[in-house]
Amino acid sequence: GTADKGEYRHYMLKEIYEQPAVITNVLEGRIHQGQVLEQIFGSNASELFDQVKMVQIVACGTSYNAGVVARYWIEKLAGIPCMVEVASEFRYRATVCMPGTLFITISQSGETADTLSALREAKEQDYLGFLSICNVPGSSLVRESDLSLMTNAGPEIGVASTKAFTSQLVALMLTALILARRNGYAEEEQMVANLQQLSALCEQVLALDPAIQKMAEHFVDKHHTLFLGRGTIYPVAVEGALKLKEISYIHAEAYPAGELKHGPLALVDEDMPIVAVAPNNSLLEKLLANLEEVRARGGKLFLFADSKAQVKPGDDLELITLPDVPTVMAPIIYSIPLQLLAYYVAVLKGTDVDQPRNLAKSVTVE
Ligand code: G6P
Repeated sequence: GTADKGEYRHYMLKEIYEQPAVITNVLEGRIHQGQVLEQIFGSNASELFDQVKMVQIVACGTSYNAGVVARYWIEKLAGIPCMVEVASEFRYRATVCMPGTLFITISQSGETADTLSALREAKEQDYLGFLSICNVPGSSLVRESDLSLMTNAGPEIGVASTKAFTSQLVALMLTALILARRNGYAEEEQMVANLQQLSALCEQVLALDPAIQKMAEHFVDKHHTLFLGRGTIYPVAVEGALKLKEISYIHAEAYPAGELKHGPLALVDEDMPIVAVAPNNSLLEKLLANLEEVRARGGKLFLFADSKAQVKPGDDLELITLPDVPTVMAPIIYSIPLQLLAYYVAVLKGTDVDQPRNLAKSVTVE
């Protein structure tokens, strides 16, 4: 009911604003003396993690996008191969299981039919074990997995997932750190400190709300948009595009910026806004060069960037500068302005933000 939304006009906005608290919740009881606790995954977790040589992630929708971010983290920090696939493909394909593979499902509801079926299929194979990252304790996915890590985001009502996504990312970072520890990773304490500062950073990004609301006006009469990112920010761009299409019904596509020249550059004109996400990472210069290619072709850019991105705003470039973020945490922080952008575009268009047409919160039948 209206009461539950408190001061907010929609559940989605309320849930976006809950993210600083949610991030604190995911970490609550999971850290001890600068280290991630292993028993939070289940009683036999340590033994199982010792044997992991590879990771296979399976999920749908927004949860899948979280999985793609995790792949970058797991391969970088833990140095083990990680594959990610949407559940509806995985379950119907002849997949090959390498010995020592940990099977991870990610799901807000724990009841998504395709994800659950993929888990059941995988259980017929020789996977090392099954871990579920989930927001609903006692859900089917959790009950049928050996290990689980609850994301503790609280009930999410808006069909477009927001706080569930960022809480999944934090949980996946905890998982990556547990695996990284076995790879001689020496910066766990620093990373944990970064995680503990995330909530405050989140608050700072939410303070950009009025600027993002203003930016949203440029999208209302558009029919197509392109989202760009590179590295860990590519899946963030994909998630940003998903949010926009789900609730504003504007066609939104995401591309890794390095692929622009292999096709999408042909679409660029003044009628297709381009949203680019540019934290300070090793790919910043390359991304900025990609954006110049877009600018030179008359495309209008909407850039969310670190203060180190030296670009001059102008008629063809709107810039929102984000606070400094540790590079590895950027996917979590940079997701938030994209959620707000989609939200305000949808509000301006007058769509049913919390209940977009044709979509369901949880898809429990195929
Ligand atoms: C539906 C929802 C999405 C969600 C997806 C996967 O499509 O609308 O927000 O990401 O299902 O759901 P899950 O509960 O498995 O995360």
